[in-house]
Amino acid sequence: MLKLDAVHVSYGAIQAIRGVSIQVTQGEVVSIIGANGAGKSTLLKAIVGLEPVAAGDVVFNGESVSGQAAHLRVKLGLALSPEGRRVFPDQTVRENLVMGAYACGLKPPQLAERLEREFQRFVRLRERQNQLAGTLSGGEQQMLAIARALMSDPKLLLLDEPSLGLAPLIIADIFRIIRALRDSGLTILLVEQMANQALAVSDRAYVLETGRITVEGSGKELASNPSVKAAYLGTH
Ligand SMILES: Nc1ncnc2c1ncn2[C@@H]1O[C@H](COP(=O)(O)OP(=O)(O)OP(=O)(O)O)[C@@H](O)[C@H]1O
Ligand SMILES: [Mg+2]
Repeated sequence: MLKLDAVHVSYGAIQAIRGVSIQVTQGEVVSIIGANGAGKSTLLKAIVGLEPVAAGDVVFNGESVSGQAAHLRVKLGLALSPEGRRVFPDQTVRENLVMGAYACGLKPPQLAERLEREFQRFVRLRERQNQLAGTLSGGEQQMLAIARALMSDPKLLLLDEPSLGLAPLIIADIFRIIRALRDSGLTILLVEQMANQALAVSDRAYVLETGRITVEGSGKELASNPSVKAAYLGTH
């Protein structure tokens, strides 16, 4: 479904992504783990069109999307739940969700259907649909960020550190949601710094170190790889 071929991304003189080639097959959950500053967010932004690719190619369902604007990539089926949630704080929960489908140009009945689908998935968001997003708890904002991405009915959902800054019980909820999305057949590319749970839900995973992929394998293989354990799993 997704194929990156020797992708490079730079911020001026800083080469944040240095020749990354990865693949995601339909129905898979694939994780990218790596330390602060490794380039994980940059890679996701390049896939959805929020940062330009300096060299290499991003191919989605057989089509090169490297030159396409971000809103066109949403229409093709790529949606990002960004690091730090980035909900619109002064808009209501409902308005945030509607924004997630904006690029799709839906007619009112379709939009209502998608809202209803997300309200069924995230009951809290239905209860709070008229509340300003900025007043939600961190966990609720994370659910809103994921639901907003799902409003565009993506083929590939990209999640950037959905567990960041949340309490353990809330993190467990987030991973339950990821599992449920996986079980419904959605393809997911997940970025996490806390790798244990990410590897546990992943079919495959990659380790990103200073802009390069250094290890790849199944979730199980990486979870038992000694250097991955030492560097990212807090176990030896
Ligand atoms: N807008 C920007 N301008 C300049 N440099 C940037 C910009 N965004 C990121 N960088 C740099 O690119 C590198 C990769 O950053 P990125 O945010 O992709 O890392 P990350 O793996 O997501 O880190 P974290 O785990 O902290 O979220 C870092 O060295 C960072 O300082
Ligand atoms: Mg990041």
